[in-house]
Amino acid sequence: MITDLQIDSTLPLQQQLYRQLSQRILQRRYPAGSRLPSSRQLAQDLGVSRNTVNAVYDQLKSEGFLQTQAGRGIFVHEDIDSRHCPPTKGASPQPERVAIPPLPALPEGAIRRSDQDSNLPFTPGLPDLAAFPIRAWNRILHHHESRPSLMGYNSLQGYRPLRRAVAEYVGSARGVRCHEDQVIITQGAQQALALIADIFLKPGDRVLCEDPGYRGARYALGRHGNPLIPVPLRHQVLDIDVLADAGPARLLYCTPTHQYPMGGILDASQRMALVEWAQRNQTWIIEDDYDSDFHFYTKPFAAIQGMFDQAPVLYMGSFSKTLMPALRVGYLIVPDTLVEHVLRAKRVMGGETALLTQAVIAEFIDSGQFTRHLRRMRQNYREKWEQFQGLVIDQLSGLAAPIAESAGMHLVLTGDWPDRDCNHWLWQQGYGSTPLSAHYLGPAQQQGLVMGFASASDQQLRDCVAALAIGLARAGKR
Ligand SMILES: Cc1ncc(COP(=O)(O)O)c(C=O)c1O
Repeated sequence: MITDLQIDSTLPLQQQLYRQLSQRILQRRYPAGSRLPSSRQLAQDLGVSRNTVNAVYDQLKSEGFLQTQAGRGIFVHEDIDSRHCPPTKGASPQPERVAIPPLPALPEGAIRRSDQDSNLPFTPGLPDLAAFPIRAWNRILHHHESRPSLMGYNSLQGYRPLRRAVAEYVGSARGVRCHEDQVIITQGAQQALALIADIFLKPGDRVLCEDPGYRGARYALGRHGNPLIPVPLRHQVLDIDVLADAGPARLLYCTPTHQYPMGGILDASQRMALVEWAQRNQTWIIEDDYDSDFHFYTKPFAAIQGMFDQAPVLYMGSFSKTLMPALRVGYLIVPDTLVEHVLRAKRVMGGETALLTQAVIAEFIDSGQFTRHLRRMRQNYREKWEQFQGLVIDQLSGLAAPIAESAGMHLVLTGDWPDRDCNHWLWQQGYGSTPLSAHYLGPAQQQGLVMGFASASDQQLRDCVAALAIGLARAGKR
């Protein structure tokens, strides 16, 4: 008689019985060849129906746990071998640590496993989500959510009406020269970067990166172990003069219209020099146009992609800042001849964006609401930028200097204090900045905090600067 099974009312009886019997066999509590009670007997002992026991026995037989021997009864299968039943010590084994094969060392820059802190005020790149026109968005969402044509498989390149809307938008707002067949919808800028790495990089190919620069680009472009070569900034923009001695490179990553994180803007002659250098060197420029919609007083510089004929430029943008990061939608715009290469890489990588989301964004743009939203956000961020900068100048004088271009969603505060410690301290106060030193590929030339003011309320702007006045003064004395 089996006495150790316990049936309760938490799960369906059949499921409980199956689980308990199979576990006991795997743990060798019922060894190979041992006899089990008849279904009538077990049903009686457990107070369940005989049909339930028969169904479980049948399943265990079909899975090779049990076997019947004609005229003798039902037994644990003789061939339950050690592959299926790893030896265990005692009756209730502890889960064992799985032995993992040797893996390549993790690159520097720990991954935050918890997402609970990704949306603190002052998190760089986080928009003002409270100001998002959620009602208008939901109306469009509701309009599309029952359309069967949005429930099937997705085109690898992306939903055509969205590609068309993106092509028109970047054409008129950013001077990008493209048609919809050159647009590839991606899961954010990050997927665009990973695709570029897959297509362009052979082992040993060098990649030039702004230093300090965007970490997401480094993670993606370094993913196959290619050497990442830091290119320093001058006056907060990529130092074009250094490129002549930088040696050959397959790719150059840059943020010419608002250097991330330092905020400088490449002027026309620097843009021209960059493209000429790239053409001479057969280097492709990755133009990350991540926040050009938020230039406060003047129209932003047109994108390099559209300024010059035959410029070797891979242009990328994202809806993470203009709409919201949770959508995970961005776009990559490449010359016609590269589209198939990108699509092939994307088929392997997977990660299409939900059709419904794409349809909603397309209508949001086509209906004019996107442009209205951007206009409102530009005003919103401009006011916050002015307020934040004013508070910093008034209250943090001598402690922190704002590096400010009148654009974007973040401000860099530099100073004479250990920025990782200050960043950690700020996080403990409930604010989510990043340390400037973490944006350097090589040794950090400056200490500072990258502070995303867009997500902070007026009160939080005031409170955070008041907290910084105390925290930075203390950190500077150490
Ligand atoms: C420089 C830069 N590029 C691109 C992005 C957007 O990335 P994603 O579209 O993957 O959210 C960000 C977001 O913070 C950024 O700072």
